[in-house]
Amino acid sequence: MRIIRVAMVSLLLLMIALPVYAGGRLTLYCSPQIDWCELMVNEFEQRTGIKVRMTRKSSGETLAQIRAEKSNPKGDVWWGGTGDPHLQAAEEGLTQAYTSSKFSELNDWAKTPHKATGGKTVGIYMGGLGFGFNTELLAKKGLPEPKCWKDLLHTAYKGEIQMANPNTSGTAYTTLATMVQLFGEDGGFDYMKSLHRNINQYTKSGSAPIKSAARGENTIGIVFMHDAVKQGVKGMPIQTVAPCEGTGYEIGSMSIIKGARNLDSAKKWVDFALTADVQSMAASVKSYQVPSNKNASVPKEAPDVSSIKLIDYDHAKYGSKAVRTGLLAKWDRDVKVLPR
Ligand code: F6P
Repeated sequence: MRIIRVAMVSLLLLMIALPVYAGGRLTLYCSPQIDWCELMVNEFEQRTGIKVRMTRKSSGETLAQIRAEKSNPKGDVWWGGTGDPHLQAAEEGLTQAYTSSKFSELNDWAKTPHKATGGKTVGIYMGGLGFGFNTELLAKKGLPEPKCWKDLLHTAYKGEIQMANPNTSGTAYTTLATMVQLFGEDGGFDYMKSLHRNINQYTKSGSAPIKSAARGENTIGIVFMHDAVKQGVKGMPIQTVAPCEGTGYEIGSMSIIKGARNLDSAKKWVDFALTADVQSMAASVKSYQVPSNKNASVPKEAPDVSSIKLIDYDHAKYGSKAVRTGLLAKWDRDVKVLPR
């Protein structure tokens, strides 16, 4: 009798729990800032009834995780993060092709990675690289306002600059690849070596340097400009700089992981994330990237890419396995180990 009662109670509990998962499940690897990841997850769960398990990791870290899980994939979708490691994931066969019904609504720059990889990755946003500084700290220390990449090499900034590690962070890899494209490979590495003398810390995540500047724990952070603008809009004393020499940019991307256990849910996520009104919601959490859907509203706070000198960043080259792996190994060998 007791056994029957226990079985009935268990069945009842199962029936109560079932509707939560009725729409299915999704495991999401998310690389933008956590507040945007959470907003997207909540909205997707509400619209579809699909239960999402999300973890936030930087772009390079996520690529490493997906590669490590290759023989037993645990994730379904990798949403966000710089496009270069998504291109490398496609080349390594870690992701799979899908063309969303929303594809025709996208800007050409968002379609390019999709075309280049046979549909394995697609652009979701765009943003230019730059830096930001804490205006109060700069004034207090009597430091000049940096306007150009080369200004950051001035000895006055020793210990005042923070950037992320290009192995873990897509932002920092974009920085390394930008210097190589602006100044040539030798010139770019000379730049990174001189910059190294002024760096106080290489963080794991790309936006961390400007968050610590906002808290007054660091003076200058090399980040995507939209991440610096976010701190300014939050009321922090952060000024954003579009460097005078010109700068690189990211095509923030999204890919379905090869062997995804929840493929239908993964496709639904991709359709959802390319939808105009969903992309327009980013501004509500102060994420000011330029959205890839032509019908999404570009936040008024987004750095105006038409007035910034963007270089013709070669995403195909710098997102290739050979070039990306080579640059990172060289940075580890020739830059990171130097004394500061
Ligand atoms: O903070 C948002 C963001 O700058 C995105 O635009 C970018 O794709 C991502 O972070 C990169 O993060 P990370 O440098 O940590 O890989």
